[in-house]
Amino acid sequence: MNLPNGIRKKRSFLEIKDGNGWTAWNPYHSKLSAYILAKGKHWPFKKKSIVLYLGAAEGNTISYLSNLCSDGRIIGVDISPTSMAELLLLAGEKTNIIPFLGDAHFPKQYHPHVNSPDIIYQDIAQGDQLDIFIRNYEYFKPKCGFLMLKSRSIKGNDKEIINQYKENLDAHFATVECINISKWAKGHRAYYVQ
Ligand SMILES: C[S@@+](CC[C@H](N)C(=O)[O-])C[C@H]1O[C@@H](n2cnc3c(N)ncnc32)[C@H](O)[C@@H]1O
Repeated sequence: MNLPNGIRKKRSFLEIKDGNGWTAWNPYHSKLSAYILAKGKHWPFKKKSIVLYLGAAEGNTISYLSNLCSDGRIIGVDISPTSMAELLLLAGEKTNIIPFLGDAHFPKQYHPHVNSPDIIYQDIAQGDQLDIFIRNYEYFKPKCGFLMLKSRSIKGNDKEIINQYKENLDAHFATVECINISKWAKGHRAYYVQ
């Protein structure tokens, strides 16, 4: 993939254009930045994209998506009230972020705020993260999705777990891209599905 509009490489990292000029986009803090640096092939984010973001945390990655999808919406779901307090501050500064305090196991709860997302992006460190993703994908039926998965390493079993994730995703989706981003996010793979 060529670098998306508004994103450029500076030495071995990325910069992204926002209202203040070019800002660093740290791959150690954002797995989406790592996905681009690791030469992921897919870039569905457009100005008008509607993104359902599961595992919003304090909104680090969301703050970049908010600029990239400036005429769209990012609905950020997180279960932690502490993270949500920070995300609310960010949403006060940006007009296209909708924070939702809730559990990603229950898509029905945030459905009224989401409607039909173009993209589901998930970064949730939980044992059943794959089930959560598939449940949301089947519920909202977006055009595509990103899943940032950590292989729950039980000493040396990483490879097996990664293969198992890939097999499960292959069974559900026509396109599955698996990108190794462990250089920046320990034990992580970024999956793009469609
Ligand atoms: C690794 S952090 C996400 C970092 C964020 N994606 C970023 O790049 O800025 C994982 C987040 O998932 C949230 N989380 C864990 N279980 C969840 C659930 N069942 N529903 C919603 N959020 C959950 C945690 O509270 C945490 O904020």
